[in-house]
Amino acid sequence: MNAANAGIRVNHLQKTFQQGRVRACRDVNLAIAPGELLVLLGPSGCGKTTTLRCIAGLERPDNDDAIWVGEQNITGMQPKDRNLAFVFQDTALFPHLNARKNISFGLNMRKTFPAAEIRRKVEATAKMLRVDHLLERKPSQLSGGQAQRISLGRAIVMEPAAFLLDEPLASLDAALRVEMRAEIKQIQRKLNTTMIFVTHDQEEALSLGDQIAVMNEGVVLQVGSPASIYLKPANLFVARFIGSPPVNQFECELVQDGGGYGLRCAWFEVSLGAEAATLIDAVGGKVTLGVRPEFISIGSEGGDIEGRVTLVEMLGSRSVILIEAQGREIRVSTQGGTTVKEGDPVQLTLTMDRAFFFAPDGRALVG
Ligand SMILES: Nc1ncnc2c1ncn2[C@@H]1O[C@H](COP(=O)(O)OP(=O)(O)O)[C@@H](O)[C@H]1O
Ligand SMILES: [Mg+2]
Repeated sequence: MNAANAGIRVNHLQKTFQQGRVRACRDVNLAIAPGELLVLLGPSGCGKTTTLRCIAGLERPDNDDAIWVGEQNITGMQPKDRNLAFVFQDTALFPHLNARKNISFGLNMRKTFPAAEIRRKVEATAKMLRVDHLLERKPSQLSGGQAQRISLGRAIVMEPAAFLLDEPLASLDAALRVEMRAEIKQIQRKLNTTMIFVTHDQEEALSLGDQIAVMNEGVVLQVGSPASIYLKPANLFVARFIGSPPVNQFECELVQDGGGYGLRCAWFEVSLGAEAATLIDAVGGKVTLGVRPEFISIGSEGGDIEGRVTLVEMLGSRSVILIEAQGREIRVSTQGGTTVKEGDPVQLTLTMDRAFFFAPDGRALVG
């Protein structure tokens, strides 16, 4: 396969283990355009690594037409012929080789370039990753972040058609993770190479992805831009998995409200537009209302919900405020600081035109 920069398609991928008893991938569908960075996001055990290993050729899918690169079905192709570079969470560097030899290992094996050319490629890559001063060190003499850079370098020098990264930052501390994810995105842009980046961290996914594919229990539930996944989740699982603090959820019922419509949510009621009412009526009138913390405003009178502040978290650029209302906890997020204090009685107003409605089966209702 010699496509310099390839699009990848995963077509109804199924992969079971232990004679079908473990269904790691039930129906995974993905399309990654050449040069695109797709983040595969989902909780632990949902099938992300298995999907990536099937793409790399390290696992054989159950169906024979599962993995495509460009127009070619590569499902049965040997990993070494795929020209895809895999970077793992644990860097898996050779401990007895220095950084230079770790980076050049694959090129040396391939035997296509003369030694001087390999040297030039290794040094250019190390410079881009800002580890050119560490090339003579062994892995044990590198920090976690440095080792992960060498590991990336080892993938980059191969000039693959695509990069497959499986939670590459998971073992780094928080500050380094944030720094490295920005670097990975810049490198991906610079090389203009297709990349699939696996993570269970929704913030990492939002910050990195051109597209995010949200996976659960072996199925891709939604694919879209970070903004569309955040603002238009396809179902309750996606809405809950993305966003921190998580979306507020209320079980509600459609009611007639004078001349208009309303939603009765246990102990409070909010009015509703005719369009939303029609959607909710079509699924039997019972829905889960979802409101993100930043779409609830706090005042001292005239709100939809009465409550009392139980906790204020000042997070620098924003504040998260926990409110107790009728024994329930409601999360509110505001830009900048806040004047409310623990114990204050407050009134909350829901921004209904930013609210989500989910049918009893979890599907989002959209007009
Ligand atoms: N080689 C294997 N043998 C048996 N079960 C496996 C194997 N690899 C993965 N699984 C199972 O498949 C499911 C998905 O695993 P995995 O793809 O590693 O998830 P993730 O990477 O999203 O955490 C899990 O239930 C896991 O235990
Ligand atoms: Mg995994």
